[in-house]
Amino acid sequence: MAGRLEGKVAFITGASSGIGAACALRFAEEGARLAGMDIEKSSGESDWDEAVKLASGAVFETGDVRDEARIQEIVAAVKDQLGRIDVLVNSAGVAGGGMIHMLDAEEWDRVVDINLKGTFLASKHTVQVMMEQGSGSIVNIASVEGIEGFMGGSSYNASKGGVVVLTKNMAIDYARTGIRANVICPGFIETPMFRSVLVDGPGKVLSDQIREAHQLGRFGKPVEIANAALFLASDEASFVTGVTLPVDGGYTAGHRFGI
Ligand SMILES: NC(=O)c1ccc[n+]([C@@H]2O[C@H](COP(=O)([O-])OP(=O)(O)OC[C@H]3O[C@@H](n4cnc5c(N)ncnc54)[C@H](O)[C@@H]3O)[C@@H](O)[C@H]2O)c1
Repeated sequence: MAGRLEGKVAFITGASSGIGAACALRFAEEGARLAGMDIEKSSGESDWDEAVKLASGAVFETGDVRDEARIQEIVAAVKDQLGRIDVLVNSAGVAGGGMIHMLDAEEWDRVVDINLKGTFLASKHTVQVMMEQGSGSIVNIASVEGIEGFMGGSSYNASKGGVVVLTKNMAIDYARTGIRANVICPGFIETPMFRSVLVDGPGKVLSDQIREAHQLGRFGKPVEIANAALFLASDEASFVTGVTLPVDGGYTAGHRFGI
């Protein structure tokens, strides 16, 4: 039986780790050819490394999603080597935040530039390839924190809220050219970013409380986001565009108290 992404080329930012790497692996299992970019090479032990064993001829480039000239070069290299780009997953991102009266403007810029401007730049250049083809699917990775507030969220939440509304605009702007754009809002997912905040970082003391805010009573796994991205990337989602999809174990469903 053909895979759900057979014959398609998927380009993933933030492909070396966490959710981006899980998307690469899940997509490769379903027959996609892969291109990945990241500011860091994979550790050698991430899902990206498993993915490239399945997807022969996978392309990987290092680069910073904030660097437009580099993004342009990478998109051109992917098109050159793989011939087309059917799916773009914008997963490159960083954690950040802090109450605004204590937040340096440079730190604000770092988070918003990577999470929001990076999504804009990778989409800007990839969408041009997709327009020439007359088809494509863009899957952005925002966050539950792009839908609602979180104490101290500031730059992170603003960047992810920006990604949510940017995705809706992209869905409108490119629908008639055959391109779909959707955004996944993950709950808290066990990745290296998660560990840096909730296991080894400032969120450690809140870890139990945050887990309990997911109605399913647990944190998510990268593959659970990749499975949703797979659906949105594939032709099974041919009538789905402009959608904000929480994949969050019920985190945004509401409160666990009432009368
Ligand atoms: N883990 C969670 O709980 C969670 C929840 C909601 C949303 N997200 C979002 O999911 C996405 C993936 O996060 P993750 O948890 O897999 O984290 P991660 O740290 O495991 O992966 C993020 C990847 O992005 C790369 N990256 C960072 N800055 C970059 C830059 N300037 N240019 C290119 N690549 C860059 C990193 O090197 C890393 O490989 C992020 O956008 C994140 O905000 C994560």
